[in-house]
Amino acid sequence: MIEVDVSKCKQDKICLAECPMGIIRMGQGEESYPEMVPGGEKVCLVCGHCVAVCPHGAMSHKLVPLEECPPIRKELALDLERAVQFLRSRRSVRVFKEQAVEREKIERLLEIARYAPTGGNSQTVQWTVFTGKEKLRELSATAVEWIRKLVEGGPKPGVPAYMPLIVAGWDAGKDTVLRDAPALLVASCPKENPNGMVDLTLALSYLELAAPTMGLGTCWAGLLQRALMFWEPLKGAVGLPEGHTNHYPMMLGYPKFRYYRLPERRPPRVTWRT
Ligand SMILES: Cc1cc2nc3c(=O)[nH]c(=O)nc-3n(C[C@H](O)[C@H](O)[C@H](O)COP(=O)(O)O)c2cc1C
Ligand code: SF4
Repeated sequence: MIEVDVSKCKQDKICLAECPMGIIRMGQGEESYPEMVPGGEKVCLVCGHCVAVCPHGAMSHKLVPLEECPPIRKELALDLERAVQFLRSRRSVRVFKEQAVEREKIERLLEIARYAPTGGNSQTVQWTVFTGKEKLRELSATAVEWIRKLVEGGPKPGVPAYMPLIVAGWDAGKDTVLRDAPALLVASCPKENPNGMVDLTLALSYLELAAPTMGLGTCWAGLLQRALMFWEPLKGAVGLPEGHTNHYPMMLGYPKFRYYRLPERRPPRVTWRT
């Protein structure tokens, strides 16, 4: 499964130390080179770390070929200050332009999101994409049906106090569920994936961090998520793949406004056990 170019290999054993599954060993004999332990292919994560970590370009993997792993370009590295501003300037966008989001841009974002880490490198995240304000408005309307039922008969334990405001807003023509966004992306994972919620959350996080580089903005659609968990008509309308009980929706569109400041957040609360 792994292929070593002996003309480049320096026998430094970095790949042995790096492999998360410990399935690379040095072969027998005086001139020994890395090889996979017998049966290693059954537990290999196909993570490509053996290829990525070799400084000599000597390692390839049948399922992660060297020629499909581009070198890391030093000139593109972010310094700390740029990285902090990049991360801190991410915002939840709730006011969108009328402008539709081009399919190519959505495809590019999904292409980026697939590099988010997944438990055991399982890569089970799937996407259901809605475009067009009318389509999204139908989803909001279905979610509001559920909220309306929840708030019927006055305040109840477990029902947030703002829920009646969502219904009142909707009746007055304001969509606070999907904010008149022109696109909605629903990330989902099969229920069998024990890390499903984390995996899809990371994929959405990658996507939302990349979106502003294309002039786009996102917002986690928490209200729609709650309705999608409990309201059968909405489950039917969204139509996730069979068995995908892990899911989260995200709004996408062109922000109407830009931001000029980085709002403060609480300092970290840490318990050090040293
Ligand atoms: C939810 C989650 C749980 C993970 N748990 C472990 C773990 O217990 N041990 C470990 O070595 N790696 C763990 N990983 C790392 C994955 O194996 C890794 O993301 C995957 O192999 C892809 O490699 P990359 O992160 O270098 O792209 C976890 C990743 C995620 C997202
Ligand atoms: S792909 Fe990952 S798990 Fe498989 S041999 Fe390489 S480093 Fe080890």
